[in-house]
This record gives sequence, structure tokens and C-alpha cells, in this order.
Amino acid sequence: MRVAVIGAGYVGLVTGACLAELGHYVTMIDRDPDKIRLLRQGQVPFYEPGLQPLTVSNLREGRLIIHDSIPAGIAGAEVIFICVGTPPLPNGDADLTAVADVMAQIARGLDGYTLIVEKSTVPVQTAAWLRTLADEHLGPSARCDIASNPEFLREGSAIEDFMHPDRIVIGSDSSLATALLVKLYSPLNAPLLLTDIESAELIKHASNAFLAMKISFINAVAQICEQVGGNITKVAKGVGMDRRIGTEFLQAGIGYGGACFPKDVAAFIQLAKRIGYDFQLLKAVSEINVAARQRIFDQLGQAVGNLAGKTIGILGLSFKPHTDDLRESPALTLIADLLAAGAHVRGYDPAAMTAAGQMFPQMTCTSSPYAAAERADAMLIVTAWPEFRHLDFGQLRQAMVRPVIVDGRNIYEPARMAAAGFHYVSVGRPTVQPAASPAQGV
Ligand code: UDX
Repeated sequence: MRVAVIGAGYVGLVTGACLAELGHYVTMIDRDPDKIRLLRQGQVPFYEPGLQPLTVSNLREGRLIIHDSIPAGIAGAEVIFICVGTPPLPNGDADLTAVADVMAQIARGLDGYTLIVEKSTVPVQTAAWLRTLADEHLGPSARCDIASNPEFLREGSAIEDFMHPDRIVIGSDSSLATALLVKLYSPLNAPLLLTDIESAELIKHASNAFLAMKISFINAVAQICEQVGGNITKVAKGVGMDRRIGTEFLQAGIGYGGACFPKDVAAFIQLAKRIGYDFQLLKAVSEINVAARQRIFDQLGQAVGNLAGKTIGILGLSFKPHTDDLRESPALTLIADLLAAGAHVRGYDPAAMTAAGQMFPQMTCTSSPYAAAERADAMLIVTAWPEFRHLDFGQLRQAMVRPVIVDGRNIYEPARMAAAGFHYVSVGRPTVQPAASPAQGV
């Protein structure tokens, strides 16, 4: 099939490259000239495992074409995906300016019948609003349907998620539109859920809000563990073994970040407010998440005392492993707070170092976890990159002034860290002191 994808961001580019890989002919459209230049050279403007080779091979085989103009790029497309950003407005609402702008440009450029698919995360009833907008701009020979087909792609494993989805949700009020999307995705052989458009739009917000709720729930229980002496890892395991609950998204820690959960939770709260429903549950989810970050900062202060003049090493800056995405990363809040408190910050991240360095010129960017630990009064673990799990703790400890680790992702065993000579603080688990030689100043 002939497909156009508008917006070469995380969602659009993964969608475009994967659809091309399935055998469709995809035109990838973006207005950013730098992105276009990079993509035409076969380079992906951000880090997503596997995306670069997939893009290159499909460009080479002619199934993926890069375009900078909507009118020219959508010519001949049977299906057009809108994948542009919907960033949060100051009040939490999703900013739909880019979606509306793209919709108008598409509608003006259509000829004959075309299916337009909303993939960007948008509030419920956006498709109905886009329908009105399209009708204002459609020419006399043009017809279109609008469908909702939300994405459930996790950064870092987006290709795997696209190729092996738990479900594909198709929200449509037109049998022709539904048939086109069913055909488009048929090579995946994945479970399909066919719904009305509003339900599909709601499924996206409700799914992300539910996952965020699981994380905040376990972080709240972690607080209780810290007071009463339990271990949140065991508690989460025991809770998750109930198949009705499931083990995923019960990893306690510094809280969720990224481009989706904080934004989608805020947008869902706003949407509810507009229709007169006070979504208190989600407000609490968001508050617990903010508190989880603050708690790590406070625990660091308790471990090292006054932060002014202290050196703090931070391991992991991206909002989660396997991505260079810093959006809403807990590390950003922590670095800002540490710098404001007068601390020296030494950061290390396998993928996000350059971008983070540009954001915080006062931070010392380092090239390894050990370099980040040099003369450090404490180390903070913010992102659970796999390489941090297997550090040489002897080398790490030697580099540091004081052997303090505050682990916002619970990646180490407390007993092991005590044996390695660390004062080790984690989330919802007992804090341990160095077992062998009680270190001075700790
Ligand atoms: C999310 C959704 O999972 C995906 O379906 C959606 O379409 C886009 O948003 P993503 O933001 O890439 O994906 O990351 P995800 O893996 O969901 O993690 C979100 C945040 O939650 C990260 O900061 C992660 O560290 C945190 N998290 C996740 C936890 O703190 N605990 C967990 O148990 C799981």
C-alpha cells in the first residue's frame, strides 16, 4: 500500500520505517530541514536501537522516501498518518496546533478518497474536531475518512513493540477506513481491536495513565516499606505474581519521566476537568511522582549533609535506558536542584551526554561511570542502563571521597553493596552501611 507519514519524530519514524519493512511504500514527511538532510543520508536524528539499519535498508530498497513538503509528499497516498508532536501547554492540555496545521495542509492537498489516521496522542474527540477542520479545506473532488490508531511504542524497544504489538487499536466509523487499516497491518498478524473513534482515543490516554498509576502506586508502597522495614522488591514481586495485577510497571524508584506519561496524565486530568469530572486518582499519581524525585534529593542530603561544595556523580541522565531522550527525565530536576544547592555535578550517560551537557554547562560531562565518581561525595543512580549493573565497585569506591550511593532505580542488592563497602540508600528497601571497614565521614 502507499502510505504517507507526517512527522519524523520517535513515533513517526518508527511507524514509517516499520511499515516500509512490512512491504508498504512509505513517504516520510517532516518540515525540519536538518532532519530531512540527515534522514536522506540514512542517519536517524535520535537514538533508537535498530532504527538506523531499518531506515537505511528501506531507503536503499526504495520503500522509504523522505520528503519536506506535505502537498507533494502525500500525493498518491492511500493512508496518511499524522505523527506530529502534541506537547503540553502550561495548564496540562495537549497543544494541538501542529496537528491542526497538518490537517489543514493535508485536506487542501487531497484528491479522491484518502484515509487520514491520527496517531499522535490526542484527547478524546480530537478526530471529530479534525473532521470539521478537514471539511473546511477539502476540495470538491476530495473525500476523506479520519480514524484513530494510537501507538503503544516504548522508546528503546519501539521496533519490537511495533512488530509484535499486544494489540492494534483501530477506531473508525467507516468500514472502508477500517478495511484499509486491517489490510495495512495484516502482515503483523497481531490481535486487532476495532472500536468507535472516541474509544480508541480514550484507550491511549487510559493505558498510559494506568501504567503511570501502577508506578506511583508501587512508589507509595515503597514509602511505607521504608517506615515499617519491608523490601519493596519482594512486595512488588508478591503483588505482581497475582495474574490479575501482573509484574510489569511495578519497579519502584525515582518515578516516571519521558515524553508520554507526565504529559498524558496531565492531559487526561485536564480533559476530565473540562467535562466536570475531578480525576483525583490521577492527580495523586502525578503528585506521588513528583514526590518520588524530591525524596531521592532529600535522601542524598541526609546521606552527605549540606550539599554546598560537595561533588555528586550522576549515573544515567536519559529518562530511561536505551534512549538519548531527556524529556521530563528525573535527572534534569535533580541536576538543577543540585546546582542550585551549590553542589558540583559530574554526569555520565551512555547516550544522552552531549544533549545534557548543552542543557547544563555547569555540569562536568564525563566519559565513564568511574570518571563521574572521581572525588565524588556520593553517586546518584538515575537511569538503569545495563552497564551500571556490572561496575567494578572497588574501582568506583577508590575514585570517590566518600562511599555513598543513592540508587533511584534499585539496581543493586543492598547486602552486596554493604559488602563492597558502601553506604547504600535505595527506594523502599533497607539502607545499609559499609560492612567491612566503616568508611570515614559516612
Ligand atoms: C510509554 C508507554 O509505555 C508506551 O506504550 C507509550 O505509547 C509511550 O509512553 P515510554 O515513555 O517510552 O513509553 O517509556 P516506558 O517504558 O513506558 O517508561 C516510562 C517511564 O516510567 C520511564 O521513566 C521509566 O523509567 C518509568 N518506569 C517504568 C518506572 O519507574 N517503573 C516501572 O516499573 C516502569
